[in-house]
Amino acid sequence: MSTTQVKFAIDDGSTNVKISWIDNGVIRSVTSPNSFRKDWKSAALLSDKKVFNYQIGTTKYTYDATSDKALSTTHVAFQYDDLNLLSVHHALLQTGIKPGPVSILVTLPITEYYNADDCQKNEENIARKKANLMRKISLNKGDVFEIVDVEVLPESLPAVLTTLVDSGVNEYTKSLVIDCGGTTLDMGVIVGEFEDVSGVYGNAEIGVSMVTNAARKALAAADSDASYLVANELIKRRHDREFVSEVINDLSKLDWVLERIENKIDELGAAVAYEAKTFTRNPNRIYLVGGGAMLIESAIREAYPSLGDKIVLVKSPQEALSREICCYHAAEPVTNPQVHEADPTPASVSA
Ligand SMILES: Nc1ncnc2c1ncn2[C@@H]1O[C@H](COP(=O)(O)OP(=O)(O)OP(=O)(O)O)[C@@H](O)[C@H]1O
Ligand SMILES: [Mg+2]
Repeated sequence: MSTTQVKFAIDDGSTNVKISWIDNGVIRSVTSPNSFRKDWKSAALLSDKKVFNYQIGTTKYTYDATSDKALSTTHVAFQYDDLNLLSVHHALLQTGIKPGPVSILVTLPITEYYNADDCQKNEENIARKKANLMRKISLNKGDVFEIVDVEVLPESLPAVLTTLVDSGVNEYTKSLVIDCGGTTLDMGVIVGEFEDVSGVYGNAEIGVSMVTNAARKALAAADSDASYLVANELIKRRHDREFVSEVINDLSKLDWVLERIENKIDELGAAVAYEAKTFTRNPNRIYLVGGGAMLIESAIREAYPSLGDKIVLVKSPQEALSREICCYHAAEPVTNPQVHEADPTPASVSA
């Protein structure tokens, strides 16, 4: 048996789990979308397609990328329930590493991690999250990883750890980190190279799911009911005409669907920019992370016109948090961590 245990850094977001680990000194990342439904799937027709049928207690779940019955994970309670346990185990199984005992680092939204009134750690929430992830789960006709140790970290801020260190900031520089995820908008202000965190903010009403919901509604009106996953894919590939016409059945409504999506993206950008301005009027730098970063970039640039290239869209923004946590907690030095754009469906690996 191997004595070296792999340590995984996992940003278990409400819509996608991002998982990073070090493989021979190179950082690797996988993005695994959350799309589970109740009950089991029958064996796949094609032998190379693996079926993931899970059981927690007496409840059966399956991974189903395209089901429009996929269970909703876009709420804060997700952090402590069956679906979170499922999504973390499912992501671990997408790494291609043989299941065994593992230590994991996971994340909680800033506002769950800290008490709102005194900015102290919310030990109760942290313990709840740990306990949830140590629960038993089984995979039909397969093995799952055994989670032996769980460490919990706050979301968002660690995403810019190495970026800040390499960026030549002085001890007074105020950097605003904006994390636009699937369900929540998280922000924090970092002073210097992490000398201090001077403010945190979380809003569970603003996230890419605003756009996803609008896209699903528009799709349904165009005779094309779609899962969260398909709707998200459509948002990402909205400029790819061929893909768009694959997804939309009623082609006479194609432009109308796209317009609904663009309008909602503008609405999301305006909402994020407004909240950011209210939270921090004049930061010295802004870093954009999270899967929604690209959608809000132009709205943020408009809201802070004088910052110019001090507004940075972090590379591979969706995976930035798991990647940085992984580098930061690495036992061995990471040489030349390279990240390529991830291919989105159904689980993508980048190295
Ligand atoms: N290039 C892109 N263009 C548009 N949307 C994208 C892109 N990449 C990812 N997304 C969307 O971003 C969202 C996921 O972002 P992210 O993984 O940061 O969220 P999360 O961590 O699951 O959510 P939260 O942080 O709110 O719990 C999904 O809706 C996904 O479709
Ligand atoms: Mg997130």
